[in-house]
Amino acid sequence: MPDTARRNLSDERLTQVVLESFENAQTPRIKEVMQALVKHLHAFAVEVQLTEEEWAKGIEFLTRTGHITDDKRQEFILLSDVLGLSMQVIGINHPVPDGATENTVFGPFFVEGSPRYELGDDIANGASGVPCYYEGRVTSVDGEPIAGAKLEIWMADDQGNYDVQYSDLDHPQGRGHLFSADDGRYWFWSVLPEAYPIPHDGPVGDLLKASGRHPWRPAHIHFQITAPGYRTCTTHVFVDGDKYLDSDAVFGVKNSLIQRFEHHEGGPTPDGRDIGGGEFWTMHYDFVLAREGDGDGRVSG
Ligand code: BEZ
Ligand code: FE
Repeated sequence: MPDTARRNLSDERLTQVVLESFENAQTPRIKEVMQALVKHLHAFAVEVQLTEEEWAKGIEFLTRTGHITDDKRQEFILLSDVLGLSMQVIGINHPVPDGATENTVFGPFFVEGSPRYELGDDIANGASGVPCYYEGRVTSVDGEPIAGAKLEIWMADDQGNYDVQYSDLDHPQGRGHLFSADDGRYWFWSVLPEAYPIPHDGPVGDLLKASGRHPWRPAHIHFQITAPGYRTCTTHVFVDGDKYLDSDAVFGVKNSLIQRFEHHEGGPTPDGRDIGGGEFWTMHYDFVLAREGDGDGRVSG
C-alpha cells in the first residue's frame, strides 16, 4: 500500500507534513533551521492572508534582488540590513562583556587588501572633505593597552560616497589599515564623516520608498579592530548631533558608539601636521576589546 499521508492536506496539516519532511536532514542543525524557517514562513502567509499577486510580487522582488547583485553590489545584504536582520544576527553572535566596545553592522563597502599606513598618516588619500584628526587607545576590558592591534578603517567622503562607488577612481581613498603603538594609542588623519544614503536605486530602494522610509545613515566612520588573543570588533564611531542618529536606515546606532567631534577654526593641529591653516575637526575614541572566549563562551567573535 502506498503511504498517502501527504495527500489532501488541510492547511494546518500541510505545515506539519512539511516540517516532518526535514526529519532526515543531513545535520540536526539543518533540520532545526529549516523547520523553524518553514514554521514562521507558513505562519506569516496565514497571518497576512497572502494573496497570489503578493506572492508573485515577492518572487519578482527577490529575482530583481538577485539580478542586481554582483561582485561590487550585494543587494541581499542590503535587504538584510534594512530589515534589521543584520543587526539581529550581530546581537546574537557578538554579545560583549561590560565595558567592551559594541559591534555594529559591517556594510557592503569593506575591501580586502586596504593600503597600510603609519600612525599619523592621512588615510583620506585625496577623498574630499574637511580634515579630521582621529585618535584614541585600544585596550583590554581591564585597561591594559593593546600594542600592535590592527585597525582597518573605511569611510565615505563628504559627497557620501565610498571610493569603490566611483567607477573612474583607480586608487583607494578613505580606507586603510594601521597598527596601534606600544601604549595602545592610535592616531591618523582623514576627513569628517557625513551622513549618506545607502544605495537606493534598486529593489531595496523601492522597498524603502513603498514603506515610507528614507535611505539615510547618520555620519560615521567604520573600524574593524583585530589583535591576537582578542575578539574582533567590527564597529563604527557615529558623529554626535547627526540628524539621522535616531532613524538609521539599517538600525546600527548604539549610544556607546556616538562621539562628539570638535570643530577648530584653524591654528596648530594636535600633531603639528601642516594642513594649510584651515578649519579641521578632532575626535577621540577609545576601543576596548574583549578577550577571546570572554563573555559569550565563544572562541572568537
Ligand atoms: C555602511 O555603513 O557602509 C552601510 C551599512 C549597511 C548598508 C549600507 C551601507
Ligand atoms: Fe558606512
